[in-house]
Amino acid sequence: MKMTSSPITLDAYVRASRRSDADSLAVVVDHLAEAGKTIAQQLAQAALIGQLGTTGTTNVQGESVKKLDLWANEVVMAALEETGLVSVLVSEEMDEPRRVAPAGYAVCFDPVDGSSNLDVNGIVGTIFSIRPGPDPLQRGTNQVAAGYGPSTVIVLTLGEGVDAFTLDDGGRFVRSHSCLRMPARGRTFSVNDGHTAKWEPGIRRYIDWLREIDSASGRPYGARYVGSLVADFHRTLLEGGVYLYPAEMGRASGKLRLQYEAAPMAFLAEQAGGRASTGRERIMNIRPTTPHQRVPLLIGSAEDVSLAESYIAGRAA
Ligand code: AHG
Ligand code: MN
Ligand code: MN
Repeated sequence: MKMTSSPITLDAYVRASRRSDADSLAVVVDHLAEAGKTIAQQLAQAALIGQLGTTGTTNVQGESVKKLDLWANEVVMAALEETGLVSVLVSEEMDEPRRVAPAGYAVCFDPVDGSSNLDVNGIVGTIFSIRPGPDPLQRGTNQVAAGYGPSTVIVLTLGEGVDAFTLDDGGRFVRSHSCLRMPARGRTFSVNDGHTAKWEPGIRRYIDWLREIDSASGRPYGARYVGSLVADFHRTLLEGGVYLYPAEMGRASGKLRLQYEAAPMAFLAEQAGGRASTGRERIMNIRPTTPHQRVPLLIGSAEDVSLAESYIAGRAA
């Protein structure tokens, strides 16, 4: 990880990109950043203003909806519509894609990722994926930008590496990390260990292998799991290692959603020299057939992800 001394703002960074649509993209990213700031402010005082807890409803995916999920969805949606540059929005909190205009970007987003952490003051964040519109169902390889913002940091890729921007005293996002690179191999794994009995044998064998003692290969790995993809991925991006939400018994596609969780994180991982896979295929290559489709996700350091794939394929014992 290289800390940079050049004080470039998020807006200036996007405008300086090699993309021909850099100025339009800068407007969209800037609006997402402003939405992120608004959400962070609301989160900071949520307990004081009755914004914690659930709405009592479930979303299209059968998950309990928190008050802040819905509120943040409105904030991100309004921010994106205001740009006049977006044709269609896909959100975790909306059953169907929302058509906004005939032309413009397709933006897929998870307004609050990790919402099970909301009521315990844990880390949550917004994930976004920007593609050329107006088709909302496109492969991850079509992404023009992707990023996430846990609290006061925005991590972004425009396909030219990964940079991170930190909110300064003046309310500007200023680059704090440039050209982030994931180590080829890490020392931690991140998975919901309580689900072990639901995994396929290859995943179980791989995690067992990580737990064995062998100093030559840096084992055992440490275990880290927040239960918030933005937080678990952020650590994996900075320090290396592997994050897994694999296929499970009764849930062959795992839990995470392709369009606004797996694909944007895959774009970031690859741009930082890492890998992202279902265990059998590259996440970025999957063409979605439905807006909320789920995929198993193995993401992180290239060597760690490759080894996990070998176990799934039965090549490593
Ligand atoms: P969301 O809060 O947007 O529904 O996403 C939750 C996701 C993700 O953030 C996290 O990695 C995973 O669910 C945790 O799931 P488990 O509680 O099953 O481990
Ligand atoms: Mn999520
Ligand atoms: Mn969410």
